[in-house]
Amino acid sequence: MSQHKPIRRKTALDIQAMKGRDPIVSLTAYHAHTASILDPHVDFLLVGDSLGMVMHGFETTIPVTLDMMILQGHAVMRGSKQALVVIDMPFGSYEASPEEAFRSAARIMKETGCGAIKMEGGTRMADTIRFLVDRGIPVMGHVGLTPQAINTMGGFRVQGREREQWPTIEADARAVADAGAFAMVVEGVAEPLAVEITRSVAVPTIGIGASRECDGQILVLEDMLGLSARVPKFVKRYGDVAGEIEKAVTGFVEDVRARRFPSNEFTYALKGE
Ligand code: KIV
Repeated sequence: MSQHKPIRRKTALDIQAMKGRDPIVSLTAYHAHTASILDPHVDFLLVGDSLGMVMHGFETTIPVTLDMMILQGHAVMRGSKQALVVIDMPFGSYEASPEEAFRSAARIMKETGCGAIKMEGGTRMADTIRFLVDRGIPVMGHVGLTPQAINTMGGFRVQGREREQWPTIEADARAVADAGAFAMVVEGVAEPLAVEITRSVAVPTIGIGASRECDGQILVLEDMLGLSARVPKFVKRYGDVAGEIEKAVTGFVEDVRARRFPSNEFTYALKGE
């Protein structure tokens, strides 16, 4: 009789234990189908609130709701088996108080079955991170460029280009780690600052537009696939999916116009003729 070993999903603790070992690999996912393609290759999948821009064409992540995150979180859980699934807390669902954050995070975890949530913010969110971790919710932090703060940051600007900015950002990273986050995204910060943060915190740093020396890297899937219309400068394109879609659609249009579709082999004849 064949014995199947059940596939064990990675946990927040597995990711935390990867600090100083092999680089952690992660991509965003919003659909079951893409999640199932990515799942065997990544350590964790992030259902990022970037879905507001990628899937819905919003200019920022601000309009994204808890219901949107839960719906896509479900899809990614259904499509994946082994990767840890982390779901972003959207703007307005956690900032008002630790209690509000707990209610939102508990809803995400109960309704999707995901293994962790992510929230933006450093020192100002430390008490909330501790409140959640103490109550059984694994939290991934997010420091540096925090897109939900775009209206107070004045745009998607690289952080820490001037050394005077470093102490605040380093303090943010330390506060997130000390509050019990199992890992943190370090987004859009000057390279040497990302290296410094990675050296100084005990939990893994996941870089995006930061440094190759971070403990892991994450990209928005559609950006690296060549599907997004606009991508940040640092993104390497690993494919030309927009070009492939264009090619396939053009082929379909030509077939329809030339009445080559559906091809004769696949039209259904009447029974008995
Ligand atoms: O929402 C998102 O996709 C993110 C990544 C850019 C880290 O937060």
